[in-house]
Amino acid sequence: MSDLEITHPQIYAYLEKTLTEETPLLREMGAYGRAQNFPIIGAQVGRLFYFLARALKASQVLELGSGFGYSAMWFALAVGADGKVIMTEGKQANVDRARDYFTRAGLLDRVEFNVGDALTRAETYPGPFDIIFCDIDKHSYPQALALARAKLRVGGILIFDNMLWHGRILTENDADTRAVLETTRALFDDNEFFTTLVPLHDGQALALRVK
Ligand SMILES: C[S@@+](CC[C@H](N)C(=O)[O-])C[C@H]1O[C@@H](n2cnc3c(N)ncnc32)[C@H](O)[C@@H]1O
Repeated sequence: MSDLEITHPQIYAYLEKTLTEETPLLREMGAYGRAQNFPIIGAQVGRLFYFLARALKASQVLELGSGFGYSAMWFALAVGADGKVIMTEGKQANVDRARDYFTRAGLLDRVEFNVGDALTRAETYPGPFDIIFCDIDKHSYPQALALARAKLRVGGILIFDNMLWHGRILTENDADTRAVLETTRALFDDNEFFTTLVPLHDGQALALRVK
């Protein structure tokens, strides 16, 4: 079975037209991502993350899997001048591109770049974080949940992207899909989190740390 459209294509197009990128640089980054077929969160989810970060008055954000910095740019805009976004990314070329965008945005002081395995690099930060966003290889999601649990403050929000996994959660049984399903179940069964699943783009689990 081929991948499913999570949102009806006409509704998706309407949302894309309505929920645009916030700044010219974000628009440029979004266009680059789409042109390269690089899996970024996109404007719909970017606006949701910005909304959450502002509503929470988040100042400390940890990202697992930052790519070339598109999602981190939304967070960096939201955390304000005293905030910090810790970025982690396995590929040096993506980090170089991210550094260039943050330099141009004048926001270098709001981000820290880490090249290497996201979970290993994140271990070096004690936290606590207001928001932790996980967008790494899906088979590592259960490990990411264990790490995030130790570093997220009570009242903070843990976010996992691709939790509908292009619809494969309904049909597939490979390691990535199993890990997405396992992480979803673990979050919903966990009484330290209040979790909801938002079917925007490829689906995000939003888990509020309640104790
Ligand atoms: C979906 S993309 C991230 C996009 C980014 N969050 C955004 O929306 O702009 C996933 C990125 O995570 C990186 N990645 C995947 N698994 C990783 C790991 N275990 N450690 C570090 N980086 C990883 C990939 O190189 C890729 O750039």
